[in-house]
Amino acid sequence: MSLTKLNPSAGTPAVQTALMRDAKDDPVYKTIFVTPSSPVIGAEISGIDLSEPLSKQDFQEVHEALMQHQVIFFRDQALNLEQHKSFGRMFGELHVHPAAPSPEGHPEILMIHADEKSKRVAGNGWHTDVSCDAEPPMGSILHLHTTPASGGDTMFSSMYAAYETLSESMQNFLEGLTAEHGSEHVYRGRYGHTQNLRDGDYPCNIHPIIRTHPVTGRKGLYVNSGFTRRIIELSETESSSLLAHLFEHIRTPEFQVRFKWEDNSVAFWDNRCVQHHAVWDYYPSVRSGHRVTIKGDRPFLAGSEKLKS
Ligand code: SIN
Repeated sequence: MSLTKLNPSAGTPAVQTALMRDAKDDPVYKTIFVTPSSPVIGAEISGIDLSEPLSKQDFQEVHEALMQHQVIFFRDQALNLEQHKSFGRMFGELHVHPAAPSPEGHPEILMIHADEKSKRVAGNGWHTDVSCDAEPPMGSILHLHTTPASGGDTMFSSMYAAYETLSESMQNFLEGLTAEHGSEHVYRGRYGHTQNLRDGDYPCNIHPIIRTHPVTGRKGLYVNSGFTRRIIELSETESSSLLAHLFEHIRTPEFQVRFKWEDNSVAFWDNRCVQHHAVWDYYPSVRSGHRVTIKGDRPFLAGSEKLKS
């Protein structure tokens, strides 16, 4: 995978150079077909049925594709809730959302639904899932069974690309910083209750601004406009202007892929290195499905002596 063939006059040369990757270590797939959506992020996977238990080889290849492309897409997967959960469980224990209601008997399922009565939709802004948790989810698997005739895309942005395109001075500065990720400002308005909160309170935790991916070892930017409230080590004004700059940076089109859903498509994204934004441009049409979310671990920055926690 390489961007060396990109027209050098397109975009900012420094950004293009930072995004170039060496194809020599790319995995070879034997049982699935992997079609990259862009050189930076995203791939469509075919030749696999997610409603059946995966063979060891299939599982390893799907996992490799996720590590390489950060978000992977599947078509024509008519999954019921049990099949959806079984696929998720191959990658780890399932996460239960701290505030969202779930279908009877399926606490690990998050319902994604919009129609003509909706006043808001989930995920309509750049974020990584539940980063307010002490151990935020490693990944999320969304299956939509009903999609609008047009619109309703999800945009994904690579946080590796966001980190790698920052200047070395900015990278070094950010590597010494941590940020608070809260949830009350998101969940109170959306779910309107406290009695159903998973742990009796709105989660709020501090994470490093740059995190090391525990599998790939790559560094990524880990602040998002959904949950990140302030940078702990800076004054309020310094924190809000730096966060505004970083939130703008992650919107860079070269870091992104935009997924066009069809009925029974699946998107599987790695929350440790990807942000996403669900575009609500299809009102009053129906867009509906389910998400399972896989537990993750505490974000860390490998080898950093600058961070106290
Ligand atoms: C989400 O999980 O944030 C929603 C994504 C979507 O509906 O596309």
